[in-house]
Amino acid sequence: MELTWWQRGVIYQIYPRSFADASGDGVGDLLGMRQHLDHLTWLGVDGLWTSPIYPSPMADFGYDVANYTDVDPVFGSLDDVDALIDAAHRRDLRVLLDWVPNHTSDRHPWFMASRGSRDNPYRDWYVWRDQPNNWRQAFRDAPAWTLDPRTGQYYLHHFLPQQPDLNWNNPAVRSAMHDVLRFWLDRGVDGFRADVIHLIGKDPALLDDPDDRVGSRVGWHHDPLTHGWLREIRTVLDSYDGDRVIVGEVNLSDPHEILSHAAADQLHLAFNFNLLWAPFSATAFRDEIAAIEATADETGTWPTLVLSNHDVSRHRTRYGGDERRARVAALVLLTLRGTPFLYAGEELGLEDAVVPPDRVVDPGGRDPARAPIPWHGGPGHGWGGAPWLPWPPEPSTRNADAQRRDPDSIAALYRRLLRARRAEPALHGGGLELRDTPEGVLAYDRHGATGRRRVLANFADAPVRVPVDGAWTVQVATRRAREGVAFDDVLAATEAVVLTPAG
Ligand code: GLC
Repeated sequence: MELTWWQRGVIYQIYPRSFADASGDGVGDLLGMRQHLDHLTWLGVDGLWTSPIYPSPMADFGYDVANYTDVDPVFGSLDDVDALIDAAHRRDLRVLLDWVPNHTSDRHPWFMASRGSRDNPYRDWYVWRDQPNNWRQAFRDAPAWTLDPRTGQYYLHHFLPQQPDLNWNNPAVRSAMHDVLRFWLDRGVDGFRADVIHLIGKDPALLDDPDDRVGSRVGWHHDPLTHGWLREIRTVLDSYDGDRVIVGEVNLSDPHEILSHAAADQLHLAFNFNLLWAPFSATAFRDEIAAIEATADETGTWPTLVLSNHDVSRHRTRYGGDERRARVAALVLLTLRGTPFLYAGEELGLEDAVVPPDRVVDPGGRDPARAPIPWHGGPGHGWGGAPWLPWPPEPSTRNADAQRRDPDSIAALYRRLLRARRAEPALHGGGLELRDTPEGVLAYDRHGATGRRRVLANFADAPVRVPVDGAWTVQVATRRAREGVAFDDVLAATEAVVLTPAG
């Protein structure tokens, strides 16, 4: 089967405020992104996705959109988006934007009209009720409804009160949101990451959540109509040429529920966060990989693979700070079947920043994972002004420049893995077969039409013997010194290797 770029490829997530600041105001911007595309090319990814860049009061740092078809001045202008797309395409990099379909900002003109009066034509673009149900909002322990005194009704917001939920049951809303997609597709973007798209379908009866679901994850009030709306969205994408793609943030845990959003005629891809939630353990990883593989086969969908993003603690930090663990996880991530999404900075082995109470800005407690990228070890680390958040640990030594020059760095490991993955069809497209192993070790084979690779990952903090059948050479290893030599049946503590048949 011929794979598309978004199946073979690897996508790099940029959190725009924290990536690179060209204007010197301490907040990253589109020009900064464009000036650092060489980093993505050096690394060897296939495309970038940037978190929202639209005009926003920044109550949720851009996930509260006040205008879907413009750019917030803090990030630049529409011309800067065009220039970014152009520069990326000249380097063979695709560009995905974040599309936020579930809610707008309370400053969006649609909501300002909607809240104006009960008979405003935009009233039904949002969800208004005389009485709230028992749904809860994200980030704080509070109802998902706010009473708007002017009209005496409550409006629904799964996130902050400044993020009112749109009413997707209203065809005018769907049509306006399709126009947003077309606006950016016409400008040449290669696709979208769709924010919390599983939430757009709400049971119109707005029934209370059952007790065991209240306050669990962000509520999910599944309405089967959602799937029809996803088909409409897919039709918009498919009316453009060039393999445009939409990947949905479906923040659920059951892989079947996740993938029900990504059937052939719905989303191309849906994020599966179960590897991200897994502890650093061979058994936990093995179980998640088995589930990902099984559900992908059953449903005919293509897996996605994620360890970190802007909403959670960075995986190195989650694993206790040991860089060797981050290396093992990276080697696994980039040798699995599916589309990996990297979060900017993970290739540098960044840890979460320590954010003192007086520097906290995010209502969801996610500042530590959003610390700025240090580009070099000198003063300012490549940033003109003091950045909006504190630096991650050790920016003078742990920065892009130092890492790129050191062949033994974790960034150099990511680069070797990405090269190996791109060059070998067995790795980017082949089947995956889990193997039996000693405790603490994860092992699988990848096999394509011709090539074959074996991956061995020792999650334990002690060396282990892993006998292998036949003769194998180490192609990529978390410790570079092992590469290019015969595999001797032993993995060091917290070490992983990609093996290729010898000869
Ligand atoms: C998604 C985003 C998160 C945001 C939320 C509301 O989960 O990833 O950053 O706060 O949706 O838009």
